[in-house]
Amino acid sequence: MATDKNAELFERARALIPGGVNSPVRAFRAVGGTPRFIERAQGAYFWDADGQRYIDYIGSWGPMILGHGHPRVVEAVQQAVRDGFSFGAPTEREIELAEEIARHLPSVEMVRLVSSGTEAAMSAIRLARGATGRNRIIKFEGCYHGHADALLVKAGSGLATFGHPTSAGVPAEVVQHTLVLEYNNIAQLEEAFATHGADLACVIIEAIAGNMNFVRASVPFMQRCRELCTQHGALLVFDEVMTGFRVGLTGAQGVYARALPGFAPDMTVLGKVIGGGMPLAAFGGPRTLMEKLAPLGPVYQAGTLSGNPVATACGLATLREIAQPGFYEALGQKTRALVDGLQAAAAESGVAFSGDCEGGMFGFFLLPQLPHNYAQVMRSDAARFGKLFHGLLDRGVYIAPALYEAGFVSSAHSDDDIARTVQAAREVFRTLA
Ligand SMILES: Cc1ncc(COP(=O)(O)O)c(C=O)c1O
Repeated sequence: MATDKNAELFERARALIPGGVNSPVRAFRAVGGTPRFIERAQGAYFWDADGQRYIDYIGSWGPMILGHGHPRVVEAVQQAVRDGFSFGAPTEREIELAEEIARHLPSVEMVRLVSSGTEAAMSAIRLARGATGRNRIIKFEGCYHGHADALLVKAGSGLATFGHPTSAGVPAEVVQHTLVLEYNNIAQLEEAFATHGADLACVIIEAIAGNMNFVRASVPFMQRCRELCTQHGALLVFDEVMTGFRVGLTGAQGVYARALPGFAPDMTVLGKVIGGGMPLAAFGGPRTLMEKLAPLGPVYQAGTLSGNPVATACGLATLREIAQPGFYEALGQKTRALVDGLQAAAAESGVAFSGDCEGGMFGFFLLPQLPHNYAQVMRSDAARFGKLFHGLLDRGVYIAPALYEAGFVSSAHSDDDIARTVQAAREVFRTLA
């Protein structure tokens, strides 16, 4: 397939932008080949610089739940642009967006809007530390919460030792308070609380982890997270940057509340869908906690573009669409049809395959069984995944260019798009058999 213009743009980009991209995974380093430079998008598709059309299963890594260019979202954004780009003073739309978020998430009484998921998670942790007067935090291997220093960390050699930085430029002192545990490992969690419980500010978790493809926290594991946090006075922070308004109207916390009546996190971190494709994120929780933030309380947090009027218009229009009755049922059915179709197509060729989905988010593995933690995910064969990725790309289907990333279906994907995707995968699976 001709990719001349893409290659040309990549060359130009590499001369000026490190790696030619403004976020690493876009560089295709996990799968090889030339990144596609996107010219435009509409509905379930985008077109690259060579005019090649792709069915888009990354949806800007989650935000585009309505597909691209939804008319009511475009109209809201156009109106907002006409009214002004940014004021640095409050607007009514920020209240409306906060109301819309709080309306759907019972655990969220107050919201602070920011501009990226990284900023939201970083600020939520500062608030957890400020509110509890404790420094230590627990995160889980395979969960990503943005690139704040304290979160770029891998496990130490044992539970007594805290983490090591995973990035140059992060001082060891900055991650010395971050304990990294294995996802879904109840015994390890209990041991960590037994040792450090009195010093823990929070546990931060992706309850349905989309940064190790798609791995659910088991219900007993989540129950134990909740019990131990409550018992030791640590806050349970749900990072729903990816899952919020994506796996359902009430997010991943809604999924766990259905299994564990009364379940709720202490704080929620949001991003992606709440901005509908514009830079917007948030964190929220109970009033007593959120009032510890500046200007009311001692925990400092601020942002020039926070609650930006164009971004809030985009997010609000998006949230109003997805709150329509039946939206998630239809989206969930489509996503399920995709995963089931891929599973059946893999089985026809005898290719090991497992997949899972919730709402408009899915994941699959070239493994016979669904993994439950990061080490199991990483048993996937990267070379086989690379073949699958490029086979699909050549057939006009764009999935995430790394095996540890989730996929996203939008309401704009038609049954025909799903069927074409499954057919493309069927052809590629034959070459993998
Ligand atoms: C769960 C989760 N938290 C935080 C982030 C960071 O968000 P951002 O890329 O907007 O900084 C991401 C990004 O993918 C994410 O998936």
